[in-house]
Amino acid sequence: MSTVNRNRVKPAVCGGEKAVTLAMPVWPVAGELEVERMTQVVRSGKWSWLGAHEMAFSEEFAKFIGTRHSLCLANGTVTLRCALQAVGVEPGDEVIVPGLTWVATAQAALDVGANVVLVDIDPETLCLDPVAVEAAITPKTKAIIPVHLYGCMCDMDALGALARKHHLKIVEDVAHQHGSEWRGRRAGSLGDAGSYSFQQSKILTSGEGGAITCDDDEVYRTCFALKQVGWMPDPEAAAEPGQAPKLVPGNHYGHNYRITEMQAVLLRGGLSQLDDQNRRREAAAERIRAALEKGGGPLRLPRKDPRVTRQSYYCLTMLYDGPSNGLSREAYVWALNAEGLPAVGAYWPVYRSPLLNLYDRTSPVPFRDPGTIQDYGRLRLPNVEKAVKDRAVMLLHHHLLGNDEYIDQLIAAIRKVNDNLAAVATAWSEKEAGKS
Ligand SMILES: Cc1ncc(COP(=O)(O)O)c(C=O)c1O
Repeated sequence: MSTVNRNRVKPAVCGGEKAVTLAMPVWPVAGELEVERMTQVVRSGKWSWLGAHEMAFSEEFAKFIGTRHSLCLANGTVTLRCALQAVGVEPGDEVIVPGLTWVATAQAALDVGANVVLVDIDPETLCLDPVAVEAAITPKTKAIIPVHLYGCMCDMDALGALARKHHLKIVEDVAHQHGSEWRGRRAGSLGDAGSYSFQQSKILTSGEGGAITCDDDEVYRTCFALKQVGWMPDPEAAAEPGQAPKLVPGNHYGHNYRITEMQAVLLRGGLSQLDDQNRRREAAAERIRAALEKGGGPLRLPRKDPRVTRQSYYCLTMLYDGPSNGLSREAYVWALNAEGLPAVGAYWPVYRSPLLNLYDRTSPVPFRDPGTIQDYGRLRLPNVEKAVKDRAVMLLHHHLLGNDEYIDQLIAAIRKVNDNLAAVATAWSEKEAGKS
């Protein structure tokens, strides 16, 4: 073999060439329409307060998700807070949250005074395990927050059945999966309310921002009051399409969680592209799935659930089987990164978040009896632990927007590492030894 060819097959961590040479797709993206509309907004003097673009986006997003209502809020944390309050969660109620999610999911429930009960995840999807949920239900349980995490949906049949059986509310956290579908119905329309984040890394983004979707008029009106300093749409005056509703004093102590017209412009542009981008990501994920299945090796995609009729991806979830080859997930990901495939691990377990230790000392929400809450400091959920330490390998969604040539380079990076596990293990040991 020539030196050039040898360098192509040699892992990058052993001095070979990188497998990925094409530039990674950029994120976020926006088009000329957004630039044009943004200019109009800047010149219009109407920059905030339920403007035309915010109202139009709210209608367009409700239509996209398939709910009667949608409203925009400042971020995907206050959306959860307001949705929980609107479905009736009160201080002292228990809310079931997965042990693996971005810490904001738990924070939102803590901030409405609820006791957060963290439960284990399904090792295949890394989403809430319905069996663990059922085991955690007590007479105080009021709501479940299914988080459709990374690139898999929660089992909404099982969670819906539990909610009906135990009279619980469901607030879906859809921060990661705008556009996913369960049996043909969109995530965010499957429970009592859906919560979305539009933060910069998300697949629909305005830099920061969030939305709530729901069918129930009272849930909608209460969320409105919570974001609009206590003012809600007048039930006697139907809003004209695209117009801000007439507001009357509402039923809840609310805050200012509004968005600006500039954000709404970006959201309308992003939404117009979302279906197409989701389809491209789905096709790329299937290309990677097929290649990993054909090539074998320690990395695979989660099994497909036929009830998931559309999968949208904040990240491509991949599962690493480390013990079978003796190479840690950390070392494997290190080797992928060196090839130019910027895979990462999962979030920390929620119970390890430093924020949870600060909560009762520094949050303005009244202190609660430690005897009634989970001991987060000591909690260890086995599937969460395993996912975080050994199994989860994530690839952020914008990589899936690359063309076939780029996706094939990502696949080549994985193949190269898989074909050279022993050499990677040696390189890793040398690196680690060099540290000491
Ligand atoms: C699963 C999940 N839920 C909620 C949030 C909170 O969203 P935001 O950052 O917009 O407050 C995030 C944000 O990253 C998230 O990933």
